[in-house]
Amino acid sequence: MRTLNAAVNTFDKRSHINREIYGHFSEHLGRCIYDGIFVGENSPIQNTNGVRNDIIEAFRQIKMPVLRWPGGCFADEYHWRDGIGEKAGRKKMVNTHWGGVTEDNSFGTNEFFNMCEVIGCEPYLCGNVGSGTVEELADWIEYITFDGISPMADLRRKNGREKPWKLKYLGIGNENWGCGGNMRPEYYADLYRRFQTYCRNFSGNELYKIAGGPNVDDYHWTDVLMSIINDSHAKAISLHYYTIPSGDFWNKGSATKFSDEEYYKTIAQALRIDRLIEKHSAIMKKYSDNMKLVVDEWGCWFNVEEGTNPGFLFQQNTMRDAIVAAVSLNIFNQRSDIVSMANLAQAVNVLQCLVMTEGDKLLKTPTYHVFDMFSTHQDAELLYSYTDNTETNGIPAVSQSVSMDKDGKITMTFANASLGEDFEVDCAIVGTAPKKAEARILTGDVRAFNDFTSPEKLVPTEHKADITDKGVKFTLPKCSVVSILLS
Ligand code: AHR
Repeated sequence: MRTLNAAVNTFDKRSHINREIYGHFSEHLGRCIYDGIFVGENSPIQNTNGVRNDIIEAFRQIKMPVLRWPGGCFADEYHWRDGIGEKAGRKKMVNTHWGGVTEDNSFGTNEFFNMCEVIGCEPYLCGNVGSGTVEELADWIEYITFDGISPMADLRRKNGREKPWKLKYLGIGNENWGCGGNMRPEYYADLYRRFQTYCRNFSGNELYKIAGGPNVDDYHWTDVLMSIINDSHAKAISLHYYTIPSGDFWNKGSATKFSDEEYYKTIAQALRIDRLIEKHSAIMKKYSDNMKLVVDEWGCWFNVEEGTNPGFLFQQNTMRDAIVAAVSLNIFNQRSDIVSMANLAQAVNVLQCLVMTEGDKLLKTPTYHVFDMFSTHQDAELLYSYTDNTETNGIPAVSQSVSMDKDGKITMTFANASLGEDFEVDCAIVGTAPKKAEARILTGDVRAFNDFTSPEKLVPTEHKADITDKGVKFTLPKCSVVSILLS
C-alpha cells in the first residue's frame, strides 16, 4: 500500500466554515414534501403537525442548519396566500414544472416555519419573482416577521401564530435565466433591485438577501448582475451546479448502472465546482469585497428510476453519490472564504436525497451518512491542510479538508475516489498535538446502495486511526470516505 504524506497546521486558520454550508433544499417536487416530509396531521405515521417524526429526528441528527423552500422552479409559480388558513379552503393549483400534479397547498408557510422551529434550522425562503408581484413578496415578509399590528401580522395571528417567526435567508427568485422567467441578466438585475427594496427588516429581523446568480459557467450573468447590484442590495448571489456524468442534461445516465469510466467522469464533473467557484468569485471581486456565493442547488442528477414519474426526479443513491458529497463538501470548506451557504438538492425522495421514505419506513442514503460524518465542520475554522496527492483516471484520488472548532477539536475529512488503490495517510500536525483520534469510515462497492430490503448496506463504521509522534496515521481504502475527530 502506498503512503501519502499529509500535513495540517493548526496555527494557520484560513476562514470560517459557516454551518449553512451543510444546508438543504426541499421543493414541492415529486415526493419531497407530500408523501415525504409531510404526511398530514391525521396520518397513522408518527408526526408533529403533519411532519414525519423520523424525518425530524434524522434532520436533527445531522444538525441541519438551514432548509430552502418552496423551490426551485416551483417558487416562481408559488403564491403564498394559497397556502395559509383553513386547509379545506386552500386553493388548489397545477404543479406545471413537476409532473403536472395537483398541489393542494396543505403544506404552506405556517407548516414550513413551524417545522423549521421543531428541527432547529434556519428557514431559507425563495420568493416568487417570475410570476409574482413586489407587493406579494413584501406582504409575505410582513406576514412572517412583523411583530406589531398590521394587515399581514393580523392575518398570521388569525391563522394561529401570535409571534412572528425569524427569517434570515431570502432568495429573490430562482433560476430567473430559465424556469424563473427566462430573463436576461440586465432585466433580472433591475427587477432584483426593485423587489428587494420592499423586503423590509421588520421587528428586529434582519434579512440576508440573495440575488439569483448564474447557472454553471454563465460568467456573463455574474458579470452583468454584479455590475448592477451592490452590497446594499444583496449579501450574496446564488450558483447552481449539478453533477451530471455525461455533462449532457438530456442523457444523464443511470444512478446505479454505470461503468468505471462513467464513475470517474462523475467525480471529474463534481470536482468542476471548485473552478466554477474560483472563476465566479474572481468576477464578483471586481465589484465587491463582501458579497458571498450561495451554492443553493448542487448534487448528482441522474435519469429517474425505471417506472417512476419522470417529473418526480426520483433516483437511487450509491457509494458514488457519497464520494461526490464528500469531495463537494471538502471543496465548499476549502472555499468557505467566499461560499457562505450550500444546499444539497434535495432533502427527501428527490435527486441526491438524504433520506427516502416508503409508507412508514425511512432509510438514510450514503449521502446522509457523509453529512453526518462531516457535521463537526459546522461553524469551525478551516485549517491549512495538504495531501501529497496522486492521480487516478485523470482525477486527483484524494480530497480532504480540516477544521478546528471553538474547543480546539479537529475534524479531518478525507475521500479516496480511486476504485483500485488503498492508501495509507501519514499526516503531520503542526501546532496543537492531538492525544486522541476517533475515526469513522463509509465504504463499499461503488454501485452499492441502501434500499428498503437492505437499508443499512452502507453505514459508517468505526475506523482505526493512530496517534503518532508527529500527528496521525490511518488507511484510506479505495472508494471510501473517512472522518477523524482529534482531541
Ligand atoms: O432541483 C430541481 C430543479 O433544478 C429546481 O427546481 C431548479 O431550480 C433546478 O433547475
